Amino acid sequence: MTAVLSAPVTPARPVRDAPVFADRGPFIPALAAVVGSDAQVPVAAGRSVGYANLDYAASAPALASVAAQVAEALGEYASVHRGAGHLSQITTRRYEAARETVREFVRGRVDDTVVFTRNTTDAINLAAHITSGDVVVLDIEHHASLLPWCAPKDDRTRARVVTACNTIEDTLVAIDAELASQPASLLAVTAASNVTGEVLPIGRLASIAHRRGARILVDAAQLVAHRPISIVSHGIDYLAFSGHKAYAPFGAGVLIGRSDWFDAADPYLAGGGATADVDLPRGGNTAGATWHTGAARHEAGSPNVLGAVSIAEACTALAELGPEAIGFHELRLSERLDAGLARIDGVRPLQIFTDSTDRVGIAGFTVDGVAPRAVAEYLSDEHGIGVRDGKFCAHPLLKRLGHPEGAVRASFGAGTTSDDIDRLLDALASRCVTTTITRPELDEGYPA
Ligand SMILES: Cc1ncc(COP(=O)(O)O)c(C=O)c1O
Repeated sequence: MTAVLSAPVTPARPVRDAPVFADRGPFIPALAAVVGSDAQVPVAAGRSVGYANLDYAASAPALASVAAQVAEALGEYASVHRGAGHLSQITTRRYEAARETVREFVRGRVDDTVVFTRNTTDAINLAAHITSGDVVVLDIEHHASLLPWCAPKDDRTRARVVTACNTIEDTLVAIDAELASQPASLLAVTAASNVTGEVLPIGRLASIAHRRGARILVDAAQLVAHRPISIVSHGIDYLAFSGHKAYAPFGAGVLIGRSDWFDAADPYLAGGGATADVDLPRGGNTAGATWHTGAARHEAGSPNVLGAVSIAEACTALAELGPEAIGFHELRLSERLDAGLARIDGVRPLQIFTDSTDRVGIAGFTVDGVAPRAVAEYLSDEHGIGVRDGKFCAHPLLKRLGHPEGAVRASFGAGTTSDDIDRLLDALASRCVTTTITRPELDEGYPA
């Protein structure tokens, strides 16, 4: 059956029934319980339906086990590293234990520094703060891993941008050539594209970087909750990710990596907790401060203990689910989604590389003749489906993919069922009656 996706039309156009994809395959249940999976949302004609959350790549819902752990920690909650009281001691232990859980989850080295940050963006900005010299980056990166190098706040680093080729193999060759052409301190790469979900061969990239005398920073924001990652086996020097894309709530992220650059750099923030000893400034500078080494050096101020606890619990839960089960679940959902999208006229999937063999639970696509925002509003307002639209904070990539105006992204994970996927397919196949729907109060205009 061929479904016709209409270009923007008037609301007067008659609505056809959604086509039936009779051969979709068996129901695929969620792999793990997530908070909010039973949320009801309003749709057209005063109805409400269960929310189909297909926006995991932006922020994944919290795992139920994470919410339980946060509730428990809140019940025994007090200051961190700042009190002898019993609850302060418990909270401090929880915070420091979270570091070790994270280290174990990403298979960090024992002497790696684990800094809790606000998110991946903050983590990569911290990485830029501790890096000096040339940094090689690909043009396909999220802004979080592009702007700290390409528009740095000072001139300690200089970006050298490599244009990704049509294949991963050729891209590796291009990166190698750039690193060979002149020395660089760092290769900064994403592990999985936030636009297409395509996974890059991190171990091979690390080998190339090291062979050319550079270190490697991996932006694992889209990988860490979806595929196994091992700092030691992949040879990663620095790894950044966010809790809120890994089934923990907002507010915390991680930068983990080799200690020497952390300890050689000035503190990321100046303030309490980063200092071992302070005398009043002499001569108007901070010569009176003796800074800690290790994570404390870059974590001034009271830390986000609940953020750290929730990331740690998410890591524990993901390890228990097991990377194979997670990968298999996403693969089954991806296959179902891809097969369905391929049968809908006018839907065009986004892909960077012709030879990529693995993709996390992300499908970027466009719909002929319909603006991405109109598609997203239609899916939400008519069907209760949440997707991301826009340029995904990856403007250079969207331009080179030929969609400077943006695209639509459906993304999913452990809490997703095949019903969520099927509802998206049905909605896209039935029609897009969209352009008259406007919700200016939601159009804050950022991030694009
Ligand atoms: C690949 C990638 N890197 C970095 C980020 C930035 O993450 P955050 O907004 O948590 O800082 C994102 C967010 O979408 C991302 O997908």
